[in-house]
Amino acid sequence: MKPSVILYKALPDDLLARLEHHFTVTQVNDLSPETVSQHESAFARAEGLLGSSEKVDSALLEKMPKLRATSTVSVGYDNFDVDALNERRILLMHTPTVLTETVADTMMTLVLATARRALDVAERVKKGEWTGSIGPDWFGIDVHHKTLGIIGMGRIGLALAQRAHFGFSMPVLYNARRHHPEAEERFNARYCDIDTLLAESDFVCVVLPLTDETRHMIGKAQFERMKNSAIFINAGRGPVVDEQALIAALQSGEIYAAGLDVFEQEPLPTDSPLLTLPNVVALPHIGSATHETRYNMAACAVDNLIDALNGKVEKNCVNPQVAS
Ligand code: GLV
Ligand code: GLV
Repeated sequence: MKPSVILYKALPDDLLARLEHHFTVTQVNDLSPETVSQHESAFARAEGLLGSSEKVDSALLEKMPKLRATSTVSVGYDNFDVDALNERRILLMHTPTVLTETVADTMMTLVLATARRALDVAERVKKGEWTGSIGPDWFGIDVHHKTLGIIGMGRIGLALAQRAHFGFSMPVLYNARRHHPEAEERFNARYCDIDTLLAESDFVCVVLPLTDETRHMIGKAQFERMKNSAIFINAGRGPVVDEQALIAALQSGEIYAAGLDVFEQEPLPTDSPLLTLPNVVALPHIGSATHETRYNMAACAVDNLIDALNGKVEKNCVNPQVAS
């Protein structure tokens, strides 16, 4: 008999077929307690779980005593209680490689859009305000040759450094837990401590996962260290930044602008001050959201679940130690 899995995300037809070739699939809309009790026996039987974004905690795992592997269609996995998974020896698979270039493109989009005020001035054009030659109130600031600082030098940071160095002739600074020789050799990136990076960067780009160490890592003190002309970019996880401190820094002119793809609360509440500040570009967490990349992530997550339930954890596994 095929192992049972719970699928809580829509998949393209061909990928659903691939999943159903290997498993008996129960599709649900979400992982809410209501859904779980509605499909109690399917959850009780399930050896695999595939989806994204929803909370996977001990309360859910208690309803899934046979669970052996979870597979998320994302690189980030802060919505999983990894300790609880480890305790129960449940594998956690993710998609760290296929989205790298796309997220780096999103970050460059935020760099360009904020610096050149692209959305703001495009909106004015649509409103019919472009009636003569444009003056300084339409101008932005340069991107090329400015200093770009990257906090978190993983795969995405590296792809951002590549764009900044080769595409825009930008000196690159970075801070990470470890030195990154490849970033230094290929993109001339310079390692520095956080305070130096904050003080010297024209663009402060954060691409960190959310962990106990990174939560609110960027707050009032960090914004105060940045240049008043600095542009702050976050495309990792919202809670890495103290959003109230960010709002205050934008309102007071402590920093010049912010380009944000992630927020403390998503969707961003409609009464957030971030939505009315003219120097903010807010995107709806589109980091990896292209047709190509979302397909590739879903395919990777399906293959990851097939691998994991067959005991293959050489790649894309957060906790391979539980397999041994
Ligand atoms: C998106 O934010 C991801 O973690 O893949
Ligand atoms: C994770 O954030 C990565 O850069 O791969």
